Amino acid sequence: MIKRINICFTSSGSTFNEASKVKDAVTAQESAIVRIEDVSTVYEGERRPAIRDVNLTIERNELVYVLGPNASGKTTLLETINGLLPAYRGRIFVFGLNVRNHGRRVRCEVGYVPQDFMVEPGEPYTAFDIVMMGRYGKIGVLQRPNEADHERAMEVMRLLEIEDLAPRPIGKLSGGQQQKVMIARALAKEPKLLLLDEPFSNLDPESREMVPRIINQLHEEKGMTTLIVTHDIHNMMKTCHRGVVFRDGRVVVDETPEKALHKLEVMR
Ligand SMILES: Nc1ncnc2c1ncn2[C@@H]1O[C@H](COP(=O)(O)OP(=O)(O)O)[C@@H](O)[C@H]1O
Ligand SMILES: [Mg+2]
Repeated sequence: MIKRINICFTSSGSTFNEASKVKDAVTAQESAIVRIEDVSTVYEGERRPAIRDVNLTIERNELVYVLGPNASGKTTLLETINGLLPAYRGRIFVFGLNVRNHGRRVRCEVGYVPQDFMVEPGEPYTAFDIVMMGRYGKIGVLQRPNEADHERAMEVMRLLEIEDLAPRPIGKLSGGQQQKVMIARALAKEPKLLLLDEPFSNLDPESREMVPRIINQLHEEKGMTTLIVTHDIHNMMKTCHRGVVFRDGRVVVDETPEKALHKLEVMR
């Protein structure tokens, strides 16, 4: 399913103060970055939950894969975690905050790369503008980006080898280039939690090696807690801690990545 995104969304509209409150909540209590308790999510107009009775904890600094066949609930899980979809039943805590009440504050510190986004060809924002949007949650709504924000945005673009795309309108870029820009936007945010939904699906073979390597490297260096839905698991296996397999909206495996992959293959 192709999802039309509002390119401007920082998914927050949040202020610097909100970001600091999140920091306080994170440091104050538990080590779990995400705690999901008995969660079911039902889409509007549907009767059947897209995910059901999910219990899952993601500890600080973990890198976790979410695997599973099409329509098993992986995207629904990510969107429920960051509060874009309300849980019909159960509770979700991110950084110790209940997402139902603090969705905007939580999203301020979450880097999210949605699956199958679509950008209008006439979209006027440049690739650099989009990456810079990742900084807005940190900058605050009434502030302007400073030199350090510019530098951070360019640094991430250089890392992903897309600095030459900076002045180009996002709508004129290829699907793979747009996908890298969206990854750069999420990384420029320096998030406490990174949610990646099939982020390599449009990349060429060379980038499919390079981008996972960068995510691995950032995870190792900065310990960024990361949840990633991908089929390209082999490129990321090295640093991954756990593999969670979904089937028909339920978590059916939560194991080491090797075991998760094996069980997924047996299931097929
Ligand atoms: N916007 C929507 N409205 C109604 N049902 C949806 C919507 N998006 C997804 N679903 C349904 O929810 C289930 C899980 O979908 P999804 O989370 O996108 O799976 P996956 O990411 O694993 O492919 C599927 O049955 C899908 O058809
Ligand atoms: Mg999906």
